Amino acid sequence: MVQINLPKNSQVKKGKYFKDKTGSKNLRKVNVYRWDPSAGENPRIDTYEVDMDNCPSKVLDILNKIKNEIDPTIAYRRSCAHGVCGSCAMNMGGKNGLACTTPHAEIEGDIDIYPLPHLKVKKDLIGDLDGLYKQYQSIEPWLKSNSESVTQEIIQSKEDRAKLDGAYECIMCACCSTSCPSYWWNGDKYLGPAVLLQAYRWIVDSRDEERQSRLKKVADELKLYRCHTILNCTSACPKGLNPAKAIAEIKKMLATANI
Ligand code: SF4
Ligand code: SF4
Ligand code: FES
Repeated sequence: MVQINLPKNSQVKKGKYFKDKTGSKNLRKVNVYRWDPSAGENPRIDTYEVDMDNCPSKVLDILNKIKNEIDPTIAYRRSCAHGVCGSCAMNMGGKNGLACTTPHAEIEGDIDIYPLPHLKVKKDLIGDLDGLYKQYQSIEPWLKSNSESVTQEIIQSKEDRAKLDGAYECIMCACCSTSCPSYWWNGDKYLGPAVLLQAYRWIVDSRDEERQSRLKKVADELKLYRCHTILNCTSACPKGLNPAKAIAEIKKMLATANI
């Protein structure tokens, strides 16, 4: 019988325990994934007792509190703190989301915080998004016009502008792609929901003149058709977008595009 074991250095160990020093009666235990590539040690889960009486409402507030008051060594990305930049995407209480918009009150019991799943980890909660951004670059996410003499604004009707709704709002946080089983197993070839939603956004932009070649570029067994409509992506999106629908639309367009 085949026996599959994790390599020893990938096993997650129990880490340090940071006991509350404030004397608060309102504590929550927060378990955080920690890994430092320069330490040469296994990943570990550190546990922090956090005083919730003096902590604002979002998971990012907890991390900031830990970093500022308990353990400055913890590493995570954040910038806008308003659900706009997408940098604080992580896995909280078993769900992908943005730490700055996820209320900790919604997580029952201990609060478990991990990096986005199935990414290589750069440090602690920071997932490696280099591959995803290379894929994003590959779909050439900018307006393409063949007319050399475009000197004026390109007019778009209200109806055409409305076609971008549900796509332009994407903040490339990667919550969807890292919740997609197809992307977990084939992330080097399959473009995944985040990048395909972006591809769709440019394919349906009436001002763009490269629709056919954009469609041709994604018309690939591995890049596109690895989507099996499992819909994890759509339920993971913190902006309420529907990347699975965009993927289905691309497939539909290809079915009639004669490519
Ligand atoms: S619908 Fe497609 S892209 Fe979304 S999770 Fe499922 S396989 Fe992945
Ligand atoms: S579709 Fe949603 S989950 Fe996916 S990258 Fe865009 S904003 Fe994030
Ligand atoms: S910090 Fe910008 S989306 Fe959370």
